[in-house]
Amino acid sequence: MRISVIGTGYVGLVTGTCFAEKGNQVLCADIDATRIEKLNQGIAPFYEPGLEELIKKNASKKRLHFTANIQEAMESAEMLMIAVGTPSDLDGSTDLSYVMSVAESIGQHMNADKYVVVKSTVPVGTCEAVRNVIERVLRARGVNYKVQIVSNPEFLREGAALEDCLYPPRVIVGVENDETQQVMLNLYRPFVEDTSKILFVDIFSSEMTKYAANAMLATRISFMNELSRICEVTGANIDLVKKGMGMDPRIGPHFLNAGVGYGGSCFPKDVKALIKTARNIGSELSILQAVEEVNQQQHDHFFKKVQDYFKGQLEGKTIAMWGLAFKPGTDDLREAPALRLIEKFLYYGARVKAADPIALEGARKLLSFESRVELFDSFYEALNGADALVIVTEWPEFKGADLNQVKASLKNSVIFDGRNIFLPSEMEELGFDYISIGKEM
Ligand code: NAD
Ligand code: UGA
Repeated sequence: MRISVIGTGYVGLVTGTCFAEKGNQVLCADIDATRIEKLNQGIAPFYEPGLEELIKKNASKKRLHFTANIQEAMESAEMLMIAVGTPSDLDGSTDLSYVMSVAESIGQHMNADKYVVVKSTVPVGTCEAVRNVIERVLRARGVNYKVQIVSNPEFLREGAALEDCLYPPRVIVGVENDETQQVMLNLYRPFVEDTSKILFVDIFSSEMTKYAANAMLATRISFMNELSRICEVTGANIDLVKKGMGMDPRIGPHFLNAGVGYGGSCFPKDVKALIKTARNIGSELSILQAVEEVNQQQHDHFFKKVQDYFKGQLEGKTIAMWGLAFKPGTDDLREAPALRLIEKFLYYGARVKAADPIALEGARKLLSFESRVELFDSFYEALNGADALVIVTEWPEFKGADLNQVKASLKNSVIFDGRNIFLPSEMEELGFDYISIGKEM
């Protein structure tokens, strides 16, 4: 199949590369010409394990191409996939301007009947609106091509994106007719051994499923975070509670880690968007409002642990921070809890020495104007002379750290672990004050 992916960001680039890997002819298009130039040299615009190699492989086999010429992309393919961003507006609703601008261009450049697949995360009803825009522009041009609209939300996780994309646990496709269903079945068949993993539903249900899934995962995290605060004062241990809960197959062990609160480009915005969708129809999603509130509180709750330890006196203190990315395996800093924590440390007069295995380049761009923030390649160097170590991202490197060296480098032997990567008993034995999440201090 000839596919053009419009928007070569996280989702567009990963999915475009994976469709090429399965033998399709893929053209990835983006309005960011610099990004396209780099991709044509085999350079990925973000870190994702294995992606650059797969791009190079498929580009050399002439199945994967990149262009900044949107018209060419729209004219040359049978299937157009929309994978542009859908950020939050100020009021929490979804900013659909990128999606709608692509719809306008499709209308302007469409030169035959086409499948238009919406991969971006969009509120229920958006695919319908995309079709209406395309058809309006086609009418204005006086042409009458057929637009087969498909909703096909993406469920990949950053850091595990290739695995999620090449071996998806499920594929959700919202279609309107049998013919489109067959085309999408043929497209996804090479990705799944068992085609029952491809769920065909109506377009509205498909759009809603994406938000529902992210909202459920965010709910689990906020539930565990709120519970962890109760554990801290009652003497229970959230890690043991999690283990016990997760052994129930109805609950399962995943996404139950209490921490510093969720971040990233999707949970925060998608939770807000679903709340807004409910409000738009005069309803309330009280559970999700609480999920969001608890998440905000959790960032602050973790900060307060540090503040309380130093009896409110953070002025002049130096905080070593391990981890900037919103989670391990990515250099993505969007809505990263580390950035919010840095802001708070600076506000209260502290200095921050931060280290991250991958996210330093992006952090330099964001934090270069902050004279009280230093960034380090070596996570041991960030510790020198610091009053405390704060762990924000659970990179495996940190788990395997030489704790004697950590102790020798820090001014005070105190660690605030926002991801529970160490065992309190072992840390105590090593002589640390070890303050983690969901355990009595
Ligand atoms: P992104 O910001 O990384 O990339 C969007 C890209 O679209 C940018 O490169 C931008 O230059 C390009 N673009 C904008 N307008 C364009 C236009 N008119 N024509 C061509 N290109 C244009 O976004 P992302 O993280 O890939 O997210 C895309 C969508 O996928 C969002 O709706 C998001 O919620 C959803 N999603 C993201 C993830 C993830 O892990 N990042 C996972 C699942 C779903
Ligand atoms: C998430 C979903 O997992 C993907 O399925 C979805 O496609 C994607 O959003 C999206 O719609 O963009 P991602 O944002 O890459 O993927 O990262 P997650 O692994 O889900 O983590 C999100 C946040 O939750 C991170 O800050 C992480 O630290 C936090 N988290 C996760 C916890 O605090 N506890 C957990 O148990 C799990």
